[in-house]
Amino acid sequence: MIAAEADSFRPFPGISAHIYSRADFEEVSRIIYDIAGIVLPPGKATLVYSRLAPLVRESGQQTFARYIEHVRRDEADMRGMINALTTNHTFFYRESHHFDHLAGQVRPQLLAKARAGEPVRLWSAGCSTGEELYSLAMALLGPDKREARILLDGDVVILATDLADHAVAGASAARYPADALKDVPDALRQSWVHRVGDEVELDSGLRAMVRVRRLNLLGPWPMKRGFDVIFCRNVMIYFDQATKDRLVARFADQLLPGGHLYIGHSERVGGETQYRMALVGGTIYRKDGM
Ligand SMILES: C[S@@+](CC[C@H](N)C(=O)[O-])C[C@H]1O[C@@H](n2cnc3c(N)ncnc32)[C@H](O)[C@@H]1O
Repeated sequence: MIAAEADSFRPFPGISAHIYSRADFEEVSRIIYDIAGIVLPPGKATLVYSRLAPLVRESGQQTFARYIEHVRRDEADMRGMINALTTNHTFFYRESHHFDHLAGQVRPQLLAKARAGEPVRLWSAGCSTGEELYSLAMALLGPDKREARILLDGDVVILATDLADHAVAGASAARYPADALKDVPDALRQSWVHRVGDEVELDSGLRAMVRVRRLNLLGPWPMKRGFDVIFCRNVMIYFDQATKDRLVARFADQLLPGGHLYIGHSERVGGETQYRMALVGGTIYRKDGM
């Protein structure tokens, strides 16, 4: 590295390289990439500083270099660092055409399966604090509570997973500020959401079919059954191409024939997997075999 380049590393005015250096940033980037697949390009040096500086202080370490040494020895603090480096931005009914497609095109088959006593499995992979998960659950159940009983009484499970502990906690709590649900169709809100003070809470019947778990998408997946529907949206944007290709191949393996994969608007299914999945809508793919 040339000297001028090294000198230009100033994520914040007044932060000396003794406290936070380019090497520290690169080390943090390596760790989060190895564990979670998240790529932190050089432009993220300031973000890393602002996310980790409070944790460096809390840990009692004086510098980032010492903090990095510390988290390597302390599993809980390593997990805190990983949590802090995830980006969890999400909202209800984000990319609403996915929920419209699910309700219009996929739900009838899932209702028929549930009515026949067959298992129905959906997965919100990288669910963040649950807004996607509960949008999915409401779109699946539909506004008619009597018809929804077919699903609620059937063998229907929506799995929701995320790497970040605070995301898993938020999704499990299922409580949101009332205006967070402003984009959810009124009829769904009226059926599945209850007011609790200044907040709203998702219906307990709906929540009974939801399982929220911590899961690193890069690690092993303990799920045995195939899925009818997988949502993995705005997660792969943080990954490099090789990681994306491996992940979509695993999603394709995990889908039942005819199952649907929904990904974020800027993402696409590439690599070998594109030959196993038909594009059936805006960033909506169906696995061959039906
Ligand atoms: C921007 S949020 C997307 C939330 C939601 N899917 C949506 O589209 O609104 C990305 C989520 O992916 C999670 N994530 C990132 N890397 C992950 C990994 N390796 N395994 C599991 N979750 C991961 C983050 O913790 C974060 O909550």
